Amino acid sequence: MKLKMMYSFLNSDINTIEKELEDTIQAESLLLRQASMHTLQAGGKRIRPVFVLLAGKFGDYDIKVMKNVAVALELIHMASLVHDDVIDDADIRRGQPTVMAKWDSQTAMYTGDFVFALALKLMANIKAPIAHKILANTMVEVTVGEIQQIKDKYRFDQNLRDYLRRIKRKTALLIAASCQLGAIAANVAESVHKKLYLFGYFVGMSFQITDDILDFTATEQELGKPAGSDLLQGNITAPALFAMKDESIRQKIEQVHEHMESTEINDIISLIKCSGAIEQSIALSDLYLQKALTILEDLPPNKAKKALRDIAKFIGRRKF
Ligand code: IPE
Ligand code: IPE
Ligand code: MG
Ligand code: MG
Ligand code: MG
Repeated sequence: MKLKMMYSFLNSDINTIEKELEDTIQAESLLLRQASMHTLQAGGKRIRPVFVLLAGKFGDYDIKVMKNVAVALELIHMASLVHDDVIDDADIRRGQPTVMAKWDSQTAMYTGDFVFALALKLMANIKAPIAHKILANTMVEVTVGEIQQIKDKYRFDQNLRDYLRRIKRKTALLIAASCQLGAIAANVAESVHKKLYLFGYFVGMSFQITDDILDFTATEQELGKPAGSDLLQGNITAPALFAMKDESIRQKIEQVHEHMESTEINDIISLIKCSGAIEQSIALSDLYLQKALTILEDLPPNKAKKALRDIAKFIGRRKF
């Protein structure tokens, strides 16, 4: 089943969100408008606004309220991608040149800040103080996660726990917040929005582990963004960490540096792929997915619950 089919009952609301995303971005500055529109129109899975809307279905769902949170979460995600592509020196995103590549990194930094500020403006329509506290805390953690990744570059003595802490911050918490804030905007009881948070956290962990696997196994065409560059850039992810349990592979991985010849890095990537490390990473991603599915069992049955289950399963076997 296609991702979009899993929540087709939300179709008209998803269209509202798309329209609202475009309307929100209409900046007075031509450059900011063009750069953010470029990223928005390049596409993307829009998984975070979908989580916001689905979580809202457990309470008093009013699209006029929900859309503020859904659009805000996609914008925050978009801002983090525009910044991430500067940090990762990436030329391609969503099958298009990144803002950094099409304009320059200064434009990318301002565009990210601009898009992030627009998200905060929308969130100002949400009254519950706890929503703002959750969002602020999440943004602090995301930033710390991205900085931690820079600090951990080429640090070959890190372990799985360091990696998990990093991906929790840089990815899982924003997905957790999407679920929780969607629920809070619909006045869902605390016991339920906390479960949705946990569901989002587990799904988010699985999502980033899969992203890190795909960096080894997929192509740029499939992903719409560069593949195979995490290790060369010193970003030590699950597949490399599992492969390093083999002493001879560890020694090779420890020699990786920024200017390594492509034949040499490709040989190391092949070794990692043949070592069983991909299978171990898939098992780790599945473990988080199972935890997410278990949390869902405690939630009241409705269409949204079924959609969340389907999306979680999709995320575990996604190819893009
Ligand atoms: C990419 O997120 C960044 C990660 C957290 C892995 P997505 O895979 O959701 O990116 P888009 O929005 O679909 O482009
Ligand atoms: C995504 O990490 C984390 C963000 C906060 C954007 P990646 O660097 O792996 O994301 P991609 O692979 O560029 O989408
Ligand atoms: Mg990155
Ligand atoms: Mg990146
Ligand atoms: Mg990645």
